[in-house]
Parts: sequence; structure tokens; C-alpha cells
Amino acid sequence: MAAILEVKNVSKHFGGLKAVDQVSLTINKGEIFGLIGPNGAGKSTLFNCVAGYYKPTMGDVFFKGEKITGVKPWNICKKKIGRTFQLVKPFKMKTVLYNTMVGAYARSAKPAEVRDMALAVLEELRLADEKDTLAKNLTIADRKRLEIARAMATDPELLLLDECMAGLRPNEVDEIIEILQGIRSRGVTIFVIEHIMRAIMALSDRIAVLQFGEKIMEGTPKEVSQDDRVIKAYLGESYVIAGN
Ligand SMILES: Nc1ncnc2c1ncn2[C@@H]1O[C@H](COP(=O)(O)OP(=O)(O)O)[C@@H](O)[C@H]1O
Ligand SMILES: [Mg+2]
Repeated sequence: MAAILEVKNVSKHFGGLKAVDQVSLTINKGEIFGLIGPNGAGKSTLFNCVAGYYKPTMGDVFFKGEKITGVKPWNICKKKIGRTFQLVKPFKMKTVLYNTMVGAYARSAKPAEVRDMALAVLEELRLADEKDTLAKNLTIADRKRLEIARAMATDPELLLLDECMAGLRPNEVDEIIEILQGIRSRGVTIFVIEHIMRAIMALSDRIAVLQFGEKIMEGTPKEVSQDDRVIKAYLGESYVIAGN
């Protein structure tokens, strides 16, 4: 399998804080790769290093073999890496369609083409019926899907999702799992941060675990959920009991 994303010894320090500490990982084309770890472990910071919002203090990021360390967000987007933010921030007074078209303008300058691209993405995210709804009036679940739609409208080959299921009900989580599996089946690679264990376990081919900025484990969902260090660091006794 061909690597699409390689993170090599990436560190990001904020003053004396090692938010990300010498993390390396390789994601293959077409994979769903999960990233888990306690709050403050450095997950969002690592995403920001990949997406160009932060320049790593040390280390390098390669996308399809090309070094992209320190490349700015807009150019990262041009290279076909799309991302969502942990805190969703749509244009609240604009419609779902408008918000999605903003993403599609990364690919085309022709309004009619952009509109068609956005409508196709809204179909995939099951938001087509809400296209004329103002973003501020959406339910939380629809707002989360709009955030994914905005990222998908940039037509990424690699999609970074930062906790896109937080706060959702189980049936809403199931729907997002289905949608993401559909997106992956079209060949889009997905790098996903998620706290909902059931979702990350169901979706991911492989999972990396961060703790205090360091990668402490990587493996299949089964391997990760059975690893003593991971159970101690993150999953906790309740998970062990629930999982057995
Ligand atoms: N811009 C920043 N400036 C200073 N500290 C930051 C900044 N962003 C994140 N941090 C710190 O880095 C650590 C990792 O944060 P973060 O990557 O958001 O963790 P996670 O997403 O795993 O919860 C935390 O201690 C956080 O307070
Ligand atoms: Mg985070």
C-alpha cells in the first residue's frame, strides 16, 4: 500500500510545553486512521501541524511523498487535504448551501459549477433537504455534518476530522459512521480524531494513541483496545468492564 501521509518525528512546543513530542506515523491511501488520547494529549495540535496552521518545532510532514512542512493552510487545501475544526464555525447567518459552496470555491471559480459541487456533497452528507436552512438554525447533528460537508467540498484526497461526533446521539453517530464509510469507499483517505470509542473502533483500520504529546501505541482497533498501557492511560476500568 502506498503512503499518502507521513508524519516524521514531528514535535510542536508551546514555550516549555511539548504539546506534540516526536510523533511519527504513516497513513496509507484509502485507510481510515484513528487518533485517540486523553484531553490535552496533543491530537488537535498534530492535526494543525499537518494542515499548516502550526509549523512543527521539529520534524517533517510529507503528503504523497512531497514535503509540506510549514506550507500555509490555503496551499495545503490546494494540495487536497481537507479538515474540520473541533469547534464548528459555520457562517451562521448564511445557508447550508452557501456554507458548503465556500469550500467548493477552492476548486472552481465558476458559481454554477461550485453550486453543483456543493449540492453533490450535501447529498452525500444527507443535508440536501436543509440546503436553504440558515446554519444557525441547524440541530447539532446537522451542524456537525455541515462541517464535514464544508471540508468535503474542497474535494480532498485526505480528510482530517477533529471530533466530528462529539455530543451526538447514538443513532446520529451511526449515521456519520455510514457516511464516512461511503466517503472512504470512493477512495478518500480519512484521518480521524474521536472520543467516542465505539465509533473509532468501528471505523478505523488502524489507531494511534497519544499521551502527553507522545505516541504510546499504534495498532488495529483490537490491538489498541487490549493494550495495557492504553487501558491505563485512556480507556479506563469502565471500558475494560464494558468491553468484556
Ligand atoms: N496555541 C496554543 N498555545 C499554547 N498551548 C497550546 C496551544 N494549543 C494547544 N496547546 C496546549 O497543547 C496541549 C495539547 O492540546 P491539544 O492538541 O488541543 O490536545 P487534544 O486535542 O489532544 O485535546 C494542551 O496542553 C494545550 O493546552
Ligand atoms: Mg482536540
